[in-house]
Amino acid sequence: MQHQQLTPFPQGFMWGASTSAYQVEGAWNEEGKGPSVIDHAVFNAELSDFKVTSDHYHHLQEDIALFAELGLKTYRFSISWARLFPEGTGEINPLGVAFYQRLIDLLGQYHIEPLVTLYHFDLPWALQQQGGWSNPETIAAFEEYARTAFRLYGDRVKYWLTINEQNMMILKGEVIGTLPADTPDPQRALYQQNHHMMLAQARAMIACHQMLPTAKIGPAPNISCIYPATSRPEDVLAANNFSAIRNWLYLDLACFGRYNATAWSFLKEKGYLPQITDDEMALLRQGKPDFIAFNYYASATVGADSAKDKPESGAANRAVDQQMAGIDRSVYVGVDNPYLQKNQFNWYIDPLGFRITAREIYERYRLPLIVTENGLGAFDELASGNKIYDDYRIEYLRCHLEQLQQAISDGVEVMGYCPWSAIDLVSTHQGIGKRYGFIYVNRDEKDLKDLARFKKKSFFWYQQVIRSNGEDL
Ligand code: BG6
Repeated sequence: MQHQQLTPFPQGFMWGASTSAYQVEGAWNEEGKGPSVIDHAVFNAELSDFKVTSDHYHHLQEDIALFAELGLKTYRFSISWARLFPEGTGEINPLGVAFYQRLIDLLGQYHIEPLVTLYHFDLPWALQQQGGWSNPETIAAFEEYARTAFRLYGDRVKYWLTINEQNMMILKGEVIGTLPADTPDPQRALYQQNHHMMLAQARAMIACHQMLPTAKIGPAPNISCIYPATSRPEDVLAANNFSAIRNWLYLDLACFGRYNATAWSFLKEKGYLPQITDDEMALLRQGKPDFIAFNYYASATVGADSAKDKPESGAANRAVDQQMAGIDRSVYVGVDNPYLQKNQFNWYIDPLGFRITAREIYERYRLPLIVTENGLGAFDELASGNKIYDDYRIEYLRCHLEQLQQAISDGVEVMGYCPWSAIDLVSTHQGIGKRYGFIYVNRDEKDLKDLARFKKKSFFWYQQVIRSNGEDL
């Protein structure tokens, strides 16, 4: 049903925008920062690396002033764990501490609420060398780091996110994960890592509630609804399986402290079961989120195993794989969705799927939601006079916000919306050329130019959206 009588966006709605440390800060080895797994990743040589990115570290004042001009009520950023703890644990880096103090203070001056991600893909390299998330000691290191962040910044930061897209780190372990190369039995190892991250998250949530009783904390997975290829029961079952493995495994553990039964049976069937203890399960039950943050870019469509022999269209497969990641084809096969458009990078555009996703999450967990990523990656063109006419991005965001308001009218409790990204940054997989920001950063893949900031057309559009509390979309 399409509501004609729309429920307005709530008063105090957290209109925001997002970034992550390794994609925006630059200064990868400055002022005491230790290396992270990102600094050791092997990149496509044609694309930008993560050394300078948008050089936000050296443009802090200017960037936050621009965010204030944009009208942001909230800014979601991540702390670089290795900037605070160059070795991942132990000695703290005072200059790293000071950088985030400055950032948070600046946000305070402009009355922008910080929404802080503790960990966004960039595990300190020192920890990775000791086995990363395969090593249970990383759980304690994460708790120490989280407690430090709460102690340092908890007087001004009320909203915390634990781990960004843990599900993508597991499902796409070979690309963004922390599995050491040549690990035997990689899938089993990834699900053991997953269990360790879940424990780390639970400990951080417990610590947050102990140390900062008025603060709120939640997980930030990438969740999307899964469509069956047809109404054939086998396809519906495949979609149901994939949703359990891709979505609910992570949120059931975070919210209910138990393994999703379907996902568990998949792990058992495949021989991927993690080692777990009763005490650990008790800990998982104890750590509770206050809200659910989720990132949404696209829906996925899958069919059953028996479609295995049918050729898949290359483009469709890529579109599915980009966001959906590879679990084995005995559980699902990605198929094309002829009802949806794709962006320049073959990602589906599905605003209605956004509404469906929000409803599914809310019905399942009954916790307030906040959208921590949603956006359109595109090759923006710098026109004369340093103008960027990104009408396609406005269209994408407008359609998604319309559906978010439909979801709110359906009764879903939504606290805020933080599209990706506040400012151009280096895409996790596809360089700086794949831009998402409201603010253009003047650089190319290899040529850093002057790193000047230009407001895109979408900047002025979003400014008006915020000003009108979502009435003028
Ligand atoms: C999410 C990540 O997976 O998607 C971001 O949290 C990432 O870090 C975003 O940038 C978009 O993906 P990509 O590959 O286009 O940068």
